[in-house]
Amino acid sequence: MMAIRWSECEIILRPIEVNDYSDMSVRERIGKLRESIRHHEHLYYVLDKPEISDAEYDALVRELQQLETAHPELITPDSPTVRVGGKPREGFQKLAHSTPMLSLDNALTTDELRAFDNRVRELLAGVEYSYVAELKMDGLSMAARYRDGVFEQAITRGDGSIGEEVTENARTIRSVPLRVPREIPFEVRGEVVLNRRAFERLNAEREKAELPRFANPRNAAAGSLRVLEPSITASRRLDYYTYFALDEAGKFIFESHWESLNWLDGQGFKVNPKRRLCANVDEALAFCAEWEAERDNLPYEIDGVVLKVDSIPQQQQLGFTARAPRWAIAFKYAAQQRETQVVGIEVQVGRTGALTPVAHLEPTLVGGVTVSRATLHNEDEITRLGIQIGDTVLIERSGDVIPKVVRVTKEGAARTPFHMPHHCPVCGGHIVREEGEAASRCINANCPARLKESIGYFASRGVLNIDGLGDVLIEQLVDKGLVKGVADLYDLTAEQLENLDRMGPKSTANVIRNIDRSRTLPMPRVLGALGIRFVGERTAELLADHFEDLDRIATASADELQQAQEVGPKVAESIRTFFDESHNKELLDRLRAAGLQFKHTAPKREGGPLTGLTFVITGTLPGLTREDAKAKIEAAGGKTAAAVSRKTNYLLAGEDAGSKLKKAQELGVPVIDEEQLFSMLGEKP
Ligand code: IVH
Repeated sequence: MMAIRWSECEIILRPIEVNDYSDMSVRERIGKLRESIRHHEHLYYVLDKPEISDAEYDALVRELQQLETAHPELITPDSPTVRVGGKPREGFQKLAHSTPMLSLDNALTTDELRAFDNRVRELLAGVEYSYVAELKMDGLSMAARYRDGVFEQAITRGDGSIGEEVTENARTIRSVPLRVPREIPFEVRGEVVLNRRAFERLNAEREKAELPRFANPRNAAAGSLRVLEPSITASRRLDYYTYFALDEAGKFIFESHWESLNWLDGQGFKVNPKRRLCANVDEALAFCAEWEAERDNLPYEIDGVVLKVDSIPQQQQLGFTARAPRWAIAFKYAAQQRETQVVGIEVQVGRTGALTPVAHLEPTLVGGVTVSRATLHNEDEITRLGIQIGDTVLIERSGDVIPKVVRVTKEGAARTPFHMPHHCPVCGGHIVREEGEAASRCINANCPARLKESIGYFASRGVLNIDGLGDVLIEQLVDKGLVKGVADLYDLTAEQLENLDRMGPKSTANVIRNIDRSRTLPMPRVLGALGIRFVGERTAELLADHFEDLDRIATASADELQQAQEVGPKVAESIRTFFDESHNKELLDRLRAAGLQFKHTAPKREGGPLTGLTFVITGTLPGLTREDAKAKIEAAGGKTAAAVSRKTNYLLAGEDAGSKLKKAQELGVPVIDEEQLFSMLGEKP
């Protein structure tokens, strides 16, 4: 493979007609196009010094695309055309880092930075040392691996030891070179960032689409990299700035950090040119001060400066604490503050129904980002701040949080107090603030703001077990208006589901079957699925045992509800409030009409066909999930246990039963299948 040094690369290729390959094979032309495109991408995305116009560049890419479409056998994973964003994925694979991606200790003041320097000096026992000062870009860190000179894999930091594999998404980032000169395997580490312009543009688009804004460029960068659709990452114009070069074993390649940064630069990676080799801490502090004054003029966000001891042998001598290296520190800049006026207070309803008051502000630049909103958290916070509409306030952005209001600096001449609404601004449902809680909530389970969350809970394991009805499907069902309330799930048709993204005939049949099956689940599950506060699995069982009928629970007074075991005033009140909400009454009517279990047909009490029997369940059953089987056994008076012992009466075994089956056979415990369970229950499978 040819080793290209980018600085020496001078291929200026002009577009030619696709069919005019008289003296060149298609393979050769593709090779030349790729080299040329890489060269121009490096000039444009890494060095910021384009040499050809966008139109000329586009023509090269188009020609390459046409050739690759005509000759798919010639497509390689390092081709510049593969950046457009490949196939979506089901989820991210977890991958271990070669060496942990540690975090940094912070210095918040000059004194703290000097204290860090004193420690370094002591530990290095009088030997000279120098620092590399780099800007601390506010993004998320990512490792990228290269093999045979080709980009191979990208992994997010994750918890530092294990990250998420985001290769296809990272491939769409233009400053991640797909091909580099070094052919020996290596890894780079650096920061994925979104510049301010791209951030503002993205938020403007999201606002237009009525999607929530990203609070800061870092969240936006993380949200853009960790999406399952690489084409979304591609559209967000992320950047990747590198700062470490490691060999395959995770060891630094060079003896000096400064040298490694220059080497990365030569390999075609983006390395922030705003860096300095400092002979001592005073020079480093000067660098920090210079960029603190200039930070608003940078095209991207920084939240400080990172100082690293330059010599790698000295770094090794200094070593690590459990959390961070002793040879590096982050000097964090103070939060940026500005004064502005509160022009209104709006209430937003979150995914769980919690209401958050948000201050609308006279738009103002804080740290280079226009801020027009700040969270006020809840009613108590508004009282604490004494804030009213029309007041002038001091707001603060500290990089990693949503802007917040620090204090009122001047009361408005014509100020209006704010009151939490009694009805949800989204659906008109009742707003309730439970005693001792800070948040007020909308209690309509079908409120559009919390519908996705309600459906997710309704369908989850241990609730109504609608396997296959995951977040991606819920998202589509709600966004396309197919499901406007939880009960609409029971009207879905196979045809509607099959038309959705990522739904084939098999997954459709699976979801329909599981929705159907949820109709047969015992009443306590239905009660639990409503998402009433404080009514979990156990309380639902106890209420069902006492009332035996969901409609009776829905109409019982608070006093009557407290007749059930373990139900106190707080739970009773929450149940009453839930069923007093007219939207929830409607939901109940719809679920009854859909055929869900409202009667507790086989209450857990003496006299059920399985009373006194203990079952252990293992393997995959043909028709029931284990939770369903457990529920059926318990509803018939039986018990279930986790492990097989001499006390076990039956082992209910499905396919791929393992050690439990062996143990049962050893102990002589009878083994039954699903069909036999049904016959013991007196039911048909
Ligand atoms: S060095 C063990 N260098 O800041 C050394 N980090 O607060 C770890 N960051 O997790 C990182 N710019 O996400 C390093 N020039 C830079 C950086 C940088 C931004 C981020 C990175 C890291 C965090 C630590």
